Amino acid sequence: MSATCLRTWLSERATACPWTFCLVFSVGVFTVARFLLKTSLVLAQTFVLPGKNLKKFGATKGAWAVITGASDGIGKEFALQLAAAGFNTLLVARNEAALNSVAAEIGMSSKTAGKVEARIQLVDFAKNDPSALNALKSVVSGLDVGILVNNVGKSHTMPSYFVETAEQEIEDIVTINVNATLRVTHAVLPGMIQRNTNEGAECRKRGLILNIGSFAGQVASPMLSTYSGTKAFLTTFTSALAEEVRSHNIIVQNLNTYFVATKMSKIKKSSMLVPTAATYVRSALSKVGLSCGAALTDRPGTTTPFWSHALVDYVIHLVGWKSLFISQSHKIMKDKRRRALRKLEREAKQQ
Ligand SMILES: NC(=O)c1ccc[n+]([C@@H]2O[C@H](COP(=O)([O-])OP(=O)(O)OC[C@H]3O[C@@H](n4cnc5c(N)ncnc54)[C@H](OP(=O)(O)O)[C@@H]3O)[C@@H](O)[C@H]2O)c1
Repeated sequence: MSATCLRTWLSERATACPWTFCLVFSVGVFTVARFLLKTSLVLAQTFVLPGKNLKKFGATKGAWAVITGASDGIGKEFALQLAAAGFNTLLVARNEAALNSVAAEIGMSSKTAGKVEARIQLVDFAKNDPSALNALKSVVSGLDVGILVNNVGKSHTMPSYFVETAEQEIEDIVTINVNATLRVTHAVLPGMIQRNTNEGAECRKRGLILNIGSFAGQVASPMLSTYSGTKAFLTTFTSALAEEVRSHNIIVQNLNTYFVATKMSKIKKSSMLVPTAATYVRSALSKVGLSCGAALTDRPGTTTPFWSHALVDYVIHLVGWKSLFISQSHKIMKDKRRRALRKLEREAKQQ
């Protein structure tokens, strides 16, 4: 259709039913404007704009970062990079030797040696042990905590149907992914709020809480249903808590994470879509306060900081056909289970 024909056709429609035309035209303009705004926000936040400076949360001023699951993977990287940024670190996990080795690394690195302190706190979050959690609470209540990273997490040992999943595995996943986040946040938050309230208006402090979420919490993952559900919990919890504490100058974010090469993902080699833990954490810490790939997707508080994850997130929400992604993910998980079972069989034969 030529431009003249289109103009004539539009003007005929506008004359015939002016209100309907007006409504359809306005919805069209709104949809195109929203698409353009969303696309520019995602691109600008992911590739151009810097996040909040970590100094705002007390870096190099004696503040502490509390990191759960700090003995390995993403948590260990948060510990190393936050220490390098000038935070004292409280490393929380269950493996004493591994935690001591991270603390020693911080103590010996040329960037951090003599500048920051690293302490360890042993908690096995699967046990949900009140005395261990109270001990953690009493330790953090004596610290000026600027940043909390709720990183500890557990996934399924292999994709499996919910009905076939061991009860203990279901319980551990919920206890570690949900209870630990609630309990540790509840322990840290009163002090954060109090310090921010006590400060004079001109030198008000800030606080940051990062919950390490997953794509499995955004797009339901069949055969990882319990894990997927707990990560969806983090998305909603984060949105609610972020709103509650905004007036206290505290930022709460859910880090929407696709694959990262760690022990949990069982992926050894990094790639464009699967960064190393170091690369992932660097990008997360450089985008604090921004939404990146999650911008304008009705998920307040959620951010997808790593660039390729951000683009995948953007496309998923642009297409908006979640049932399609869920059924594709089901096929992938069935295949992963088949391969995991074959590997177990091979290992059993070798023994
Ligand atoms: N890797 C990914 O592809 C990916 C994708 C999306 C989201 N995430 C999320 O990122 C977070 C970190 O995952 P990751 O890949 O870094 O995992 P990881 O390499 O397995 O590290 C998990 C950390 O948590 C600790 N931990 C596990 N169970 C614990 C318990 N019961 N009590 C105390 N500490 C415990 C581990 O210590 P031990 O050595 O003692 O087990 C380790 O320090 C998780 O919340 C995960 O859901 C990861």
